[in-house]
Amino acid sequence: MKFLVHTYGCQMNVRDSEAVEALMLAAGYEKAADESEADIVIVNSCTVRDMAERKAVGKCGNLIAAKEGRGRACRPATAEAGRACRPATAAIKIVGLMGCAVKRMGTDVFKSLPKLDFAVGPRRFGAIPRLVERCLAGETRILELPDDDEVPTGMDAHAGGASFQSYVTVLLGCDNRCSYCIVPDVRGHEYSRPAREVVAEVRALAARGVKEVCLLGQSVLRYGVRNPAWGPDDPPSPGGYTEAFPRLLEALNAVDGLARIRFTSAHPKGCTDELVRAYAEFPKVCRHLHLPVQSGSDRVLKEMGRRYTRVEYLAAVAKLRAFDPEFAVTTDVIVGYPGETEEDFEATRSLMEEAGFDNAFVFKYSPRPGTRSAALPDDVPTEEKERRDQVLLADQQVRGQARNDRLVGTVREVLVEGPSLRNAARWSGRDSGNRIVVFEPSRPVRIGDLVQVRIREAHPQILIGEI
Ligand code: 5AD
Ligand code: SF4
Repeated sequence: MKFLVHTYGCQMNVRDSEAVEALMLAAGYEKAADESEADIVIVNSCTVRDMAERKAVGKCGNLIAAKEGRGRACRPATAEAGRACRPATAAIKIVGLMGCAVKRMGTDVFKSLPKLDFAVGPRRFGAIPRLVERCLAGETRILELPDDDEVPTGMDAHAGGASFQSYVTVLLGCDNRCSYCIVPDVRGHEYSRPAREVVAEVRALAARGVKEVCLLGQSVLRYGVRNPAWGPDDPPSPGGYTEAFPRLLEALNAVDGLARIRFTSAHPKGCTDELVRAYAEFPKVCRHLHLPVQSGSDRVLKEMGRRYTRVEYLAAVAKLRAFDPEFAVTTDVIVGYPGETEEDFEATRSLMEEAGFDNAFVFKYSPRPGTRSAALPDDVPTEEKERRDQVLLADQQVRGQARNDRLVGTVREVLVEGPSLRNAARWSGRDSGNRIVVFEPSRPVRIGDLVQVRIREAHPQILIGEI
């Protein structure tokens, strides 16, 4: 029996999908090369914005139609575009939906998808091999919703293979409760995995050849805040908000064979002196922080419940850049939050300029059922959200170019990821700041190597150079 997992959403979902693949392989299933040979297809869904949810649910609908011989299935590479479809094959026997959208929809999932075989929320993906077995025995429409405090099983399952990079979940859930965000409702309360568990997982990955780990948590700097993540066997820690995460970095910095440690996402409140010290002291910790700002207007930040001001946010960025001027800071911004005026928007624009972001992701506000802001009128017209989105992206292109221009002539240490997609004679990798670096290999290189690249040319999102 062959299976396939389609993933929508963030890195957490990518990680959960990988764990599901590992659990399915361990249960004796094989991975299908593409949809046409898959017996079992699982869609991992996102619900952070309405469009994200609709894509995953729509994909599931297409798969169910294909299973019933009604519709047309799409190749994974073109599934997003929804084009280039080919006639469905009769191979699909089971279609399952997992992830955030399942928890949001609850029993309504079967209103949208009456023929769905199983639906399972986040933190319960460990049940999937068992659910597949039940469906193969004839059951259908099975729904499993996790509790908000559930500790998943199978969290440390990795699919193996020759990857040089791996995600590692360290903090589940989120207790921040920003007004617009559905994540706490779907991913539950914070739970920090014991440090000894995380260290053991990273050691095993490094022993297998993984060079870079990315530690995941919705607000990863809150690691160890809600539950004491440190037991008697863990490295010593004074405990408390500011220390647990830096101590985890210290323990991971000591793992043999590992070259780099990244983590995401961060809240400015966690950008403490202890964190900055960890960046300075532990050489494997990459000099990049994804620090979503969401807005540059104090009025909007307050409405959003972000618990920092514009000045406090900029102080966090300044602290990182004071210690390393090349420190890369990237962000998320929401445009068109309820009541966002032209003045609020211009405040976001100027904050982005002052912060000098190396990259930015802009999202158009999307009301999510049950969140505090969903009770407010979604009063910024779609075309205006679109305009603000375009303005910020155009600004970021100019800013990205200027930030990258400063790196021309410098030498960046690059972890090799593979041949460049655009030009196979060139190779591609990332520097410590997560900047994409494309280079001519003057000598043979392998995936996972660390090489020194002199930068010759800069673009807004990419650096070009030679070894
Ligand atoms: N509408 C638009 N964007 C959102 N995000 C989270 N919730 C919403 C929403 N309701 C964005 C935030 C977050 C990113 C992952 O998604 O910018 O950082
Ligand atoms: Fe989407 Fe948020 Fe769930 Fe990630 S945690 S998959 S972004 S809803």
